[in-house]
Amino acid sequence: MKIDLLKKIPQHMDTIILLLGEGYKLDSFELLPPHVKELAEAWIEHSNFKADFAAVQSATAVHKGKKYNLIICGAGETKAMSVDKMRRLFATVVRAAIKLKAKTLYLYQSFPISIGEEAYGHALAEAALLTEYRFFKYLSSDDKHEIDALHLVKKIKNNRQFNCGVLEGRIFAESTNFARDLVNEPANVIFPESLADLTKKAALKYGFNIEIFNAEKLRRLKMDAFLAVGKGSKSEPRLIIMRYQGNPDLRNKTIGLIGKGLTYDSGGYCIKSPQGMVSMKSDMAGAAAVIGTMIAVTSLKLKVNLVAIVAACENMISGEAYHTGDLIRSMNGKTIEVINTDAEGRLTLVDAIHYAISREKVHKVLDIATLTGAAVTALGNRISAVVTNDDAWLEMLKKASEFTGEKIWQLPAHEEYKELIKSQIADLKNSGGPVAGTISAALFIQEFVDKKPWIHIDIAGTASRDSEAGMYSVGATGVGVRLITQLLREMEQQS
Ligand code: BES
Ligand code: MN
Ligand code: ZN
Repeated sequence: MKIDLLKKIPQHMDTIILLLGEGYKLDSFELLPPHVKELAEAWIEHSNFKADFAAVQSATAVHKGKKYNLIICGAGETKAMSVDKMRRLFATVVRAAIKLKAKTLYLYQSFPISIGEEAYGHALAEAALLTEYRFFKYLSSDDKHEIDALHLVKKIKNNRQFNCGVLEGRIFAESTNFARDLVNEPANVIFPESLADLTKKAALKYGFNIEIFNAEKLRRLKMDAFLAVGKGSKSEPRLIIMRYQGNPDLRNKTIGLIGKGLTYDSGGYCIKSPQGMVSMKSDMAGAAAVIGTMIAVTSLKLKVNLVAIVAACENMISGEAYHTGDLIRSMNGKTIEVINTDAEGRLTLVDAIHYAISREKVHKVLDIATLTGAAVTALGNRISAVVTNDDAWLEMLKKASEFTGEKIWQLPAHEEYKELIKSQIADLKNSGGPVAGTISAALFIQEFVDKKPWIHIDIAGTASRDSEAGMYSVGATGVGVRLITQLLREMEQQS
């Protein structure tokens, strides 16, 4: 989809979109053809349209023998517009345009751009491209629809800023859509080796450094917690290490991003129910988020230094699989009693984190994982849970979250709950039982961050959706890519 500022009004416009704030005046649109204005006026009056936020209507009309679509969308009170509200409006109208199978969109807006022209361009491109995404490659009936172009019909003060914003928004959206594809692909397509191969292709295309370790190498590194989880699968595990150095002056300041990469989670011998298992191809959404972030960061050439790690494996059942009661020594030496083979994510994460700290010398750790059903119970499908040992850093993430619209909510890393993961016969046990599941999982991970600044994001609820709404279609959301990329942009400005 091409996205730009319209230079000249053409004879025929395929689809016209009017974004109308409270108290709008249709007369203010100098470039709106008179017949469209007449139709809009009549229709608005007839339908008692109040310009409420995201109230949308569409119709098809004919002018001089040619069909065109008109989409009218309210924007409510426009004085306090935010990037997120603009993005939601754009998503609403693009969704309406897709329903009409529209090809070329002309966007009019009755109110001034109050969020800055760069942010405006960003929100526009991001919303349009995220809304257009669908995972259709396995559908034989080809009802896929692509919009050719979206033209903004508005006087802009600084074209360059607007265009920069569009480019940024495009990078944010395309990296997110890359992650969505990875998550939507099933476990017979994405397994540790194929995930590593696809990541390698992305590394070559976008220009970040990559290294991939096989099981033999992992055994030499003593990553036994990670290896235990993958033992039951025919597909060998892979450790995927991605590096990007955007700021050589700060070579000793590297941020570690760790994404949970369970390409499938059957639960192991603590087997899940069919209902619980059916969505477990998406148990690598954390991995997809960090891979997508690497793509965004390299495309934006951010001045930060990153190492992203994915411990990719499959949690399966076989004669080789790990058992409950097993005692494992993790890479950092701490021993773990396996209470539940379905609490596997944390076992893979802690070895990846320890590897990042001890071998890659990262000085900050951010992990993102579809880690606990408890996060879904607590916060549902629209809010990710976060836990940290560094509130100042989390403040930055909260700011990023306001910008991207990916909601987060902090749960406390309450010391007393460490009781929950104490074992009688090992240093830790891998499950804290049925209470405070998200916190106890986070506290388990915290034991391995070596007092480094750390943020943990549990995306079990937010990684995918089962209904279409706003920018999101059914399936993967790509949550985390934009959030972490925006966090890194803020950190870039601080350094
Ligand atoms: N991958 C799951 C968590 C999950 C649940 C993600 C629902 C997305 C939707 C994770 O590996 C898991 O099974 N966690 C267990 C932990 C428990 C055994 C301590 C859970 O949440 O039930
Ligand atoms: Mn599990
Ligand atoms: Zn899992």
